[in-house]
Amino acid sequence: MALTIGVDVGGTKIAAGVVDENGHIVENLLRPTPADDPDKVAEAIAEVVLDLAGRHDVEAVGLGAAGFVDETRSIVRFAPNLAWREEPLQKAVAERVNMPVVVENDANAMAWGEYRFGAGRGESHVVCITVGTGIGGGLVFGGALYRGRWGMGAEMGHMQVVAEGRLCGCGNLGCWEQYASGNALVHEARLIAEAQPGRAARLIELAGGTTADIEGKHVTEAARDGDDAALAAFASMAQWLGQGMADLAAVLDPGRFILGGGVSRAADLWIDDARAAYGRALTGREHRPHADIRVAELGASAGLVGAADLARHP
Ligand code: BGC
Ligand code: NA
Ligand code: ZN
Repeated sequence: MALTIGVDVGGTKIAAGVVDENGHIVENLLRPTPADDPDKVAEAIAEVVLDLAGRHDVEAVGLGAAGFVDETRSIVRFAPNLAWREEPLQKAVAERVNMPVVVENDANAMAWGEYRFGAGRGESHVVCITVGTGIGGGLVFGGALYRGRWGMGAEMGHMQVVAEGRLCGCGNLGCWEQYASGNALVHEARLIAEAQPGRAARLIELAGGTTADIEGKHVTEAARDGDDAALAAFASMAQWLGQGMADLAAVLDPGRFILGGGVSRAADLWIDDARAAYGRALTGREHRPHADIRVAELGASAGLVGAADLARHP
């Protein structure tokens, strides 16, 4: 059986796994991502790969990286939320592990994983959206990943949704990921808690009394406890997500949206609102089928499973 290794390289952790051709994970490992040093990141990726390759007969490696990957799938040209700038990641890892390596955008890898083995199975027009630190996108049309001319397609997190809006890691103002990502959720919750602490009693309590210490997990827990500020932050994110999906549908007309990333673990708190917002915002809504909006099925493993499969069928 042909095994490959998939690695999902995020801002905080490196998730790696040995995956078989049915998308099953044979073994996986999790390591922290070394901060702000691309050389150390390549070194850490190579270490987990060699560690896994020492125990399994693997043929190739697929890396999912949270940034703009060039059309040769070798160079991470830019990462809005990480230190990569013109980083030759493919070469840096391949020369250390002595195996074929392909680099793919993390959200593209996730979309591919979901299309092949998860919530995208059986649908010919899939738009995948990862809601985490930022917003990533992946498009699978007619069984193929759509990469754009230069490999940088589907960067939907950087569509401007607010003129002169919040500063984004990409350098522009008002990008979608500043309003609808996991980071945006926390930002919104902090704003409400600062302005109206009376609505955020439970949220502030969970954060140890300081609004600046509010984290995503506090917003989720507080929302489950009925905290008004936390619920409002989720409602805001859902509204932005629904509106953004409607805009994407106006261009792409997909049959299915798949929502993944860290925030999808709490999808029960916002998915219905996002669906409703989509239904309200969709152009020509009474005269067209509405795409289904589903939660990713492979959870935190979607990226590495997709990357491993892309390494098998490059
Ligand atoms: C980056 C994408 C990435 C996404 C999710 C965005 O800020 O521009 O390349 O896929 O975050 O990690
Ligand atoms: Na992408
Ligand atoms: Zn941006």
